[in-house]
Amino acid sequence: MEMYIEKAKVLVEALPYIKEFYGKTVVIKYGGSAMVDEMIKETVIQDIILMKLVGINPVIVHGGGPDINKILKQMDKKSEFVNGLRVTDQETMEIVEMVLAGKVNKSIVSHIQNQGINAVGISGKDGATLQAEKKLVNGMDVGFVGEVVNVNTELISTLIQKDFIPVIAPIGIDKEGNSYNINADYAAVAVAGALKAQKLVFLTDVEGVLKDVSDSSSIISRLSIKDVDEYIKNGIISGGMIPKVECCVEGVKKGVKTVHILDGRVEHCLLLEIFTQKGVGTMIEE
Ligand SMILES: Nc1ncnc2c1ncn2[C@@H]1O[C@H](COP(=O)(O)OP(=O)(O)OP(=O)(O)O)[C@@H](O)[C@H]1O
Ligand SMILES: [Mg+2]
Repeated sequence: MEMYIEKAKVLVEALPYIKEFYGKTVVIKYGGSAMVDEMIKETVIQDIILMKLVGINPVIVHGGGPDINKILKQMDKKSEFVNGLRVTDQETMEIVEMVLAGKVNKSIVSHIQNQGINAVGISGKDGATLQAEKKLVNGMDVGFVGEVVNVNTELISTLIQKDFIPVIAPIGIDKEGNSYNINADYAAVAVAGALKAQKLVFLTDVEGVLKDVSDSSSIISRLSIKDVDEYIKNGIISGGMIPKVECCVEGVKKGVKTVHILDGRVEHCLLLEIFTQKGVGTMIEE
């Protein structure tokens, strides 16, 4: 009996959080690097479904770096990055689109549908959701790497209204109909800003922002946006963490109430973050 009372208490403890987030939008950027373990993927999806069932509107924007790397390697194509962004020629763009909007997107949708909840997978091209143009990286042309210039929320909002969980692949479209590879972190913050999301969560494959990447105990629990430039300049934040923290800063500036980087490898990290007082990962604040 006591065991059941404990369980009931856990649910009651979640009540204030459920109340706070009821009817609100939470954008979850699901990083490709945190998707490699199928077991963990299942628990992430469970968390998202639970959110949906208690009245929160989760919106998923996903990456897929490791899957793209794997296919490029099979095709003998090199993966090259500048500031954490993938150099994308025409052929790479086609592969990126196939992997992200095809394999990765539909795999997430399958996991959700498997649990009896409706999800719709779209790419940013559908309904011109992610309108993009070429992005220069440090003034350099790195091919079909795009930045989001506008988000058309019509399709996402329709899906939310009809109770579907939107699952978005970060492919952008320009005025001529060209495809652009958009770092999923940028896509997520653009979507969160446009939807006026309450929360933006980046699920990745590290504990959070670390002071020393090789030391998992060096986590920065609260990162002020004022310190970010310095951390990037002195190399504490590097690689794929650069676009991520830049997006966190943008999210905070755009008025998203809370922005977090969480370890997507930790079972039920989303539930811990949303429904308990336990602070996990890095919270980015003003
Ligand atoms: N200071 C830092 N703290 C934590 N991670 C860091 C830091 N500096 C660099 N990194 C690197 O950033 C990586 C996370 O970014 P990465 O782009 O690889 O993953 P992702 O964005 O979650 O996935 P995807 O790009 O597929 O969407 C970590 O695995 C780590 O190697
Ligand atoms: Mg990344």
